[in-house]
Amino acid sequence: MDGAMPRLDQFLATQSDIGTLRLLTCGSVDDGKSTLIGRLLFDCKQILDDHLAALERDSRRHGTTGEELDLALLVDGLEAEREQGITIDVAWRFFATDRRRFIIADTPGHEQYTRNMATGASTADLAVVLVDARAGVLAQTRRHSFIASLMGIRHIVLAVNKIDLVDFSEQRFDEIAAAYRDAVATLGFAGITCIPLSARHGDNVTAPSPRTPWYRGPSLLAHLETVQVAADSTGAPFRMPVQWVNRASPEFRGYAGTVASGHIAVGARLRIAGAARETTLARIVAMDGDRADAAAGEAVTLVLADEIDASRGDVLAAGTPPAVAANFTARLVWLADTELFPGRRYLFKLGTATVAGSITRIHHRIDINGFGEVPADTLAANDIALVSITLGSPVALERYADSHALGGFIVIDRQSNATLAAGMVDTVGNGATNITWHDTAVDKAARARLKGQRPVAVWFTGLSGAGKSTIANLVEQRLHALGRHGMILDGDNVRHGLNRDLGFSEADRVENIRRAAEAARLMVDAGLIVLVSFISPYRSDREAARERFAPGEFLEVFVDTPVDECRRRDPKGLYKRADAGLIRNFTGVDAPYETPDHPELRLPTTAAPATELAERVVEELRRLGYLGEE
Ligand code: ADX
Repeated sequence: MDGAMPRLDQFLATQSDIGTLRLLTCGSVDDGKSTLIGRLLFDCKQILDDHLAALERDSRRHGTTGEELDLALLVDGLEAEREQGITIDVAWRFFATDRRRFIIADTPGHEQYTRNMATGASTADLAVVLVDARAGVLAQTRRHSFIASLMGIRHIVLAVNKIDLVDFSEQRFDEIAAAYRDAVATLGFAGITCIPLSARHGDNVTAPSPRTPWYRGPSLLAHLETVQVAADSTGAPFRMPVQWVNRASPEFRGYAGTVASGHIAVGARLRIAGAARETTLARIVAMDGDRADAAAGEAVTLVLADEIDASRGDVLAAGTPPAVAANFTARLVWLADTELFPGRRYLFKLGTATVAGSITRIHHRIDINGFGEVPADTLAANDIALVSITLGSPVALERYADSHALGGFIVIDRQSNATLAAGMVDTVGNGATNITWHDTAVDKAARARLKGQRPVAVWFTGLSGAGKSTIANLVEQRLHALGRHGMILDGDNVRHGLNRDLGFSEADRVENIRRAAEAARLMVDAGLIVLVSFISPYRSDREAARERFAPGEFLEVFVDTPVDECRRRDPKGLYKRADAGLIRNFTGVDAPYETPDHPELRLPTTAAPATELAERVVEELRRLGYLGEE
């Protein structure tokens, strides 16, 4: 099989080739997905003889189908040979008939199914949605159809499988077909074709079955061979995200990448998205030398007539350039087992750009049963939602509906590098796009100079009762005595006002810390030495807080007190109440505290009295020059 398979990238390069149909199969293993794909490959004689021999052996050994070939084993066996090094679990299968070539994005897996599906769907023209004729339309059928529609798939085949197990019942088939059409009526599919079939026995897979005389439609293969799916990326404007800048010699500077959409020829006018000035395309260099033009899917290096300063992540564009924005709304399919929390910092990979940012708001979650909109504070695995996103720096963006390449993105965990979500840009920009930052005549440095100090946020983190507030108070007293200008931001106090609306769920703590960091930053702008005292239990939130400050304006101080000692001290009687189950989500009891990895200062409160530890903080501030001339 592999020998007959062209390299995927070559194959994908033929984007505008109407002779190729890209399809996605949706359904779980139980629905017979592997068997169906195996049956298509088998009946189209795409299985090499040695594979077949192995299959016969394996079917006898592990198969669930008696003496027959277990076609599911074939597909599952191929899985093991899957291309290495791709992070996302999609196996691409290729087969061809005299009439058409096919790429199947086969998305294996059970729990991780949605993620794989979202990945496979982004390049597919058509989705084959499988249902078990006995079970009918399930929640997952709706979910898969919804994701398919989100990803821009407009053509659906509803494969009503295992029709033999409902006695080839026309009535059952009609019921399921009607229920499905009803369930997806609002999803805007251009075509839905329902086919009764048995993947295992081959009914209506590649040839009409005599056992369903009442069915007059095409077999699955006949439909796939003839269905018209408009391939419209040829007419799209030219876009190429820069992968890397090729400086082969001092005279040569080229921008290497894969054309995401459209077509370009030497002599064309183009620009970097976001730049005012246009330039002319001087050369197109490919593997086989200079060329006159390039189209979507081709990997090329572009040489421009003028020196422009583009780097990885920039997008070269002709015609109306894409917007360059930091704010947008998107449909998000949350894939991770960990929850999404608005305000938490993640990495966003759009095209060739990877930038930090956060999901600032969940507008609503989609209820998969009726596709209604329901309010949500957080998202769990497989949830789909409309969200607002703000990036740390602007990138070239288009609506997913206009460009899958510039409108599709993934969300990545900054610590584990895991893919957390797949997203599709819905609208670019938000009301805040027209807000500009005003530089003030008197700035942070001037304000600090007047106070004879350098401003800084000293961020005390540690368990409740660790001694953060006590030490921060002592530090402020010392600063005051030294004639320095300090200010305390204390978790308990800030929760009386600014953060009065927040509780202790993980989502609320993320927002609590975000606001605390923003408030501290304003105070640093005022030229103050700010002593921030919040439990701030999550590492990623403390890191995000740090990133809001200029280098050298944030010092993390870990007030290190073992939880047993905090419990023994229990100054507010909270541990007692938490242990009795009267307070939920109490840090150190039934909510986590993530110890700092590299704090600037660690204060072991069981080893020294608070006054001495406070003096250490003051000493450190002095040593680093924050206290100015004394
Ligand atoms: S944080 O986790 O979001 O950083 P913050 O520092 O603002 O917490 O507030 C912690 C204080 O709130 C504690 O010192 C304690 O007095 C009080 N508190 C009430 N409920 C909880 C809880 N479930 N977990 C931790 N602290 C709590």
